[in-house]
Amino acid sequence: MKHLILTGFMGSGKTTVGKVLASSLNLPFVDLDAVIKGESGLFSDAYILRFGEKTFRKIEKNCLRKILTGPACVLATGGGAVLDNQNRQRMLHQGFVVWLKTPSRLLLPRLKSGHSRPLLPRPLSQKNLKKILDQRLPFYRQCHFTLSVANRSPKELAILIMNQYRKLRCTPTS
Ligand code: S3P
Repeated sequence: MKHLILTGFMGSGKTTVGKVLASSLNLPFVDLDAVIKGESGLFSDAYILRFGEKTFRKIEKNCLRKILTGPACVLATGGGAVLDNQNRQRMLHQGFVVWLKTPSRLLLPRLKSGHSRPLLPRPLSQKNLKKILDQRLPFYRQCHFTLSVANRSPKELAILIMNQYRKLRCTPTS
Protein backbone atom coordinates (compact mmCIF):
# COMPACT_ATOMS: atom_id res chain seq x y z
CA MET A 1 0.00 0.00 0.00
CA LYS A 2 1.33 3.42 -0.94
CA HIS A 3 1.40 6.64 1.02
CA LEU A 4 -1.32 9.09 0.10
CA ILE A 5 0.48 12.39 -0.30
CA LEU A 6 -1.17 15.80 -0.46
CA THR A 7 0.62 18.68 -2.11
CA GLY A 8 -0.44 22.21 -2.89
CA PHE A 9 0.23 25.80 -2.07
CA MET A 10 0.06 27.14 1.50
CA GLY A 11 -3.58 27.50 2.48
CA SER A 12 -4.87 24.78 0.13
CA GLY A 13 -6.34 22.76 2.99
CA LYS A 14 -3.87 19.83 2.90
CA THR A 15 -4.05 19.28 6.66
CA THR A 16 -7.85 19.50 6.85
CA VAL A 17 -8.41 17.18 3.89
CA GLY A 18 -5.58 14.89 5.06
CA LYS A 19 -7.23 14.33 8.44
CA VAL A 20 -10.56 13.44 6.81
CA LEU A 21 -8.77 11.03 4.47
CA ALA A 22 -6.77 9.40 7.24
CA SER A 23 -9.79 8.72 9.39
CA SER A 24 -11.81 7.40 6.42
CA LEU A 25 -9.00 5.13 5.24
CA ASN A 26 -8.00 4.17 8.75
CA LEU A 27 -4.43 5.24 8.09
CA PRO A 28 -2.19 7.38 10.30
CA PHE A 29 -2.13 11.08 9.47
CA VAL A 30 1.31 12.69 9.24
CA ASP A 31 1.95 16.40 8.79
CA LEU A 32 5.42 17.09 7.44
CA ASP A 33 5.65 20.43 9.25
CA ALA A 34 4.70 18.72 12.52
CA VAL A 35 7.46 16.15 12.01
CA ILE A 36 9.92 18.99 11.42
CA LYS A 37 8.69 20.59 14.64
CA GLY A 38 9.23 17.30 16.48
CA GLU A 39 12.73 17.04 15.09
CA SER A 40 13.83 20.66 15.55
CA GLY A 41 11.58 21.98 18.31
CA LEU A 42 10.50 24.81 16.03
CA PHE A 43 7.44 25.46 13.91
CA SER A 44 8.44 25.68 10.24
CA ASP A 45 7.83 29.42 10.10
CA ALA A 46 9.99 30.05 13.16
CA TYR A 47 12.63 27.70 11.77
CA ILE A 48 12.76 29.62 8.48
CA LEU A 49 12.99 32.95 10.30
CA ARG A 50 15.85 31.70 12.47
CA PHE A 51 17.90 29.61 10.02
CA GLY A 52 16.72 30.65 6.56
CA GLU A 53 14.89 28.79 3.80
CA LYS A 54 17.92 26.84 2.53
CA THR A 55 18.54 25.18 5.90
CA PHE A 56 14.81 24.57 6.29
CA ARG A 57 14.70 22.74 2.95
CA LYS A 58 17.42 20.39 4.21
CA ILE A 59 15.56 19.36 7.34
CA GLU A 60 12.33 19.18 5.33
CA LYS A 61 14.01 16.82 2.84
CA ASN A 62 15.40 14.65 5.61
CA CYS A 63 12.08 14.37 7.42
CA LEU A 64 10.24 13.62 4.19
CA ARG A 65 12.68 10.83 3.31
CA LYS A 66 12.21 9.24 6.75
CA ILE A 67 8.41 9.41 6.59
CA LEU A 68 8.36 7.85 3.12
CA THR A 69 10.42 4.87 4.24
CA GLY A 70 7.96 4.25 7.11
CA PRO A 71 4.54 2.60 7.14
CA ALA A 72 1.81 3.83 4.77
CA CYS A 73 0.16 7.04 5.90
CA VAL A 74 -1.75 10.05 4.69
CA LEU A 75 0.88 12.76 4.43
CA ALA A 76 0.24 16.50 4.24
CA THR A 77 3.39 18.12 2.88
CA GLY A 78 4.46 21.73 3.25
CA GLY A 79 3.68 23.75 0.14
CA GLY A 80 7.34 23.99 -0.86
CA ALA A 81 8.34 20.32 -0.50
CA VAL A 82 7.76 19.79 -4.24
CA LEU A 83 10.47 22.31 -5.15
CA ASP A 84 13.23 19.75 -4.66
CA ASN A 85 13.67 17.26 -7.48
CA GLN A 86 14.62 14.35 -5.20
CA ASN A 87 11.64 15.04 -2.97
CA ARG A 88 9.38 14.88 -6.01
CA GLN A 89 10.90 11.65 -7.30
CA ARG A 90 10.63 10.01 -3.88
CA MET A 91 7.03 11.08 -3.42
CA LEU A 92 6.05 9.90 -6.90
CA HIS A 93 7.75 6.55 -6.35
CA GLN A 94 6.58 5.85 -2.84
CA GLY A 95 3.17 7.42 -2.84
CA PHE A 96 0.06 8.47 -4.66
CA VAL A 97 0.58 12.20 -5.03
CA VAL A 98 -2.41 14.53 -5.09
CA TRP A 99 -2.29 18.24 -5.87
CA LEU A 100 -5.01 20.30 -4.22
CA LYS A 101 -5.21 22.96 -6.89
CA THR A 102 -6.38 26.24 -5.43
CA PRO A 103 -6.72 29.52 -7.32
CA SER A 104 -5.03 32.59 -5.86
CA ARG A 105 -8.41 34.30 -5.36
CA LEU A 106 -9.33 31.56 -2.84
CA LEU A 107 -5.89 31.46 -1.23
CA LEU A 108 -5.62 35.19 -0.59
CA PRO A 109 -8.32 35.54 2.11
CA ARG A 110 -7.21 32.31 3.79
CA LEU A 111 -3.58 33.39 3.92
CA LYS A 112 -4.44 36.92 5.02
CA SER A 113 -6.39 35.64 8.01
CA GLY A 114 -3.98 32.81 8.85
CA HIS A 115 -0.72 32.86 10.81
CA SER A 116 2.15 34.86 9.33
CA ARG A 117 4.21 32.82 6.89
CA PRO A 118 7.72 34.11 6.13
CA LEU A 119 7.81 32.85 2.54
CA LEU A 120 4.67 34.64 1.43
CA PRO A 121 5.20 37.65 -0.85
CA ARG A 122 4.98 41.11 0.68
CA PRO A 123 2.70 42.90 0.29
CA LEU A 124 0.33 39.96 0.18
CA SER A 125 -1.72 40.80 -2.90
CA GLN A 126 -3.41 38.61 -5.48
CA LYS A 127 -0.85 39.71 -8.08
CA ASN A 128 2.15 38.78 -5.90
CA LEU A 129 0.56 35.54 -4.80
CA LYS A 130 -0.15 34.56 -8.39
CA LYS A 131 3.49 35.21 -9.28
CA ILE A 132 4.86 32.73 -6.73
CA LEU A 133 2.04 30.29 -7.44
CA ASP A 134 2.87 30.36 -11.15
CA GLN A 135 6.53 29.63 -10.38
CA ARG A 136 5.47 26.50 -8.50
CA LEU A 137 2.86 25.25 -10.97
CA PRO A 138 5.31 23.13 -13.02
CA PHE A 139 6.22 21.24 -9.84
CA TYR A 140 2.69 20.72 -8.56
CA ARG A 141 1.65 19.57 -12.05
CA GLN A 142 3.96 16.55 -11.78
CA CYS A 143 1.56 14.88 -9.35
CA HIS A 144 -0.47 11.72 -10.08
CA PHE A 145 -3.84 13.35 -9.55
CA THR A 146 -4.97 16.99 -9.69
CA LEU A 147 -8.08 18.08 -7.90
CA SER A 148 -9.51 21.58 -7.96
CA VAL A 149 -10.65 22.61 -4.48
CA ALA A 150 -13.00 25.34 -5.75
CA ASN A 151 -16.60 24.76 -4.59
CA ARG A 152 -15.74 21.50 -2.85
CA SER A 153 -15.81 20.77 0.86
CA PRO A 154 -12.96 18.86 2.55
CA LYS A 155 -15.27 15.83 2.75
CA GLU A 156 -16.10 15.99 -0.97
CA LEU A 157 -12.42 16.33 -1.81
CA ALA A 158 -11.58 13.36 0.40
CA ILE A 159 -14.20 11.16 -1.31
CA LEU A 160 -12.89 12.04 -4.78
CA ILE A 161 -9.30 11.36 -3.71
CA MET A 162 -10.22 8.04 -2.08
CA ASN A 163 -12.03 6.86 -5.20
CA GLN A 164 -8.95 7.56 -7.26
CA TYR A 165 -6.59 6.03 -4.72
CA ARG A 166 -8.66 2.85 -4.64
CA LYS A 167 -9.06 2.73 -8.41
CA LEU A 168 -5.31 2.61 -8.73
CA ARG A 169 -5.34 -0.24 -6.22
CA CYS A 170 -3.13 1.61 -3.81
CA THR A 171 -5.36 0.29 -1.02
CA PRO A 172 -7.89 -2.52 -0.53
CA THR A 173 -11.48 -1.56 -1.40
CA SER A 174 -13.01 -3.07 1.74
C1 S3P B 1 6.04 26.46 2.90
C2 S3P B 1 4.84 26.00 3.35
C3 S3P B 1 4.55 25.77 4.77
C4 S3P B 1 5.81 25.43 5.54
C5 S3P B 1 6.85 26.47 5.30
C6 S3P B 1 7.21 26.62 3.82
C7 S3P B 1 6.21 26.76 1.47
O1 S3P B 1 3.62 24.70 4.94
O2 S3P B 1 6.31 24.18 5.16
O3 S3P B 1 6.40 27.69 5.81
O4 S3P B 1 7.35 27.00 1.03
O5 S3P B 1 5.20 26.74 0.73
P1 S3P B 1 2.06 24.81 4.53
O6 S3P B 1 1.94 24.60 3.06
O7 S3P B 1 1.43 23.68 5.29
O8 S3P B 1 1.59 26.14 4.98
